[in-house]
Amino acid sequence: MILSIFAFGQPVLKKVASSIDQNYPDLNKLISNMWDTMYHAEGVGLAAPQIGLAIRLFVIDTIQLRERGRVDMEDAFKKVFINAQILEETGEHWAYEEGCLSIPGIRGNVERNPTIRIKYLDENFVEHEESFSGMNARVIQHEYDHIEGKLFVEKLAPLKKQLIRGKLENIKKGKIEVDYKMKFV
Ligand code: NI
Repeated sequence: MILSIFAFGQPVLKKVASSIDQNYPDLNKLISNMWDTMYHAEGVGLAAPQIGLAIRLFVIDTIQLRERGRVDMEDAFKKVFINAQILEETGEHWAYEEGCLSIPGIRGNVERNPTIRIKYLDENFVEHEESFSGMNARVIQHEYDHIEGKLFVEKLAPLKKQLIRGKLENIKKGKIEVDYKMKFV
């Protein structure tokens, strides 16, 4: 089932999300709905706050990036991350133009570390500790920011922030064209 994506301005996007346990109601259904919603909107990742739930859950499929022509994605993956905790971020910052399903029509360069070590539970509540790098790490960092109540637009250069101020106001008010379901303030 395709859910509405909460738009920039929705308070849930600014909350630090809470951990969940195996008793979380209808978790499998929720995860399945998040995949449907993400693919429908042509995203590579989706975090629970983006569908209005302040819980530490996000889903990522970077295999789509490879299918869209990124040749450097031989280690692409499709994974569910529950109660994720980034343990370490290392390496020289690199910039890449990011976007976000909650902030349609805006893209901007974000500086991030290239390598991370992360601990998380999968959809069966099996614990993993893994390292990721490059684009895989970047997508995780972006989704992880969502469960920490942070948005990529807050990480843009000051001038860029000024340039997009009007556009962000329009998104808040729902004054945008978007071809997936969204929930505005
Ligand atoms: Ni996002």
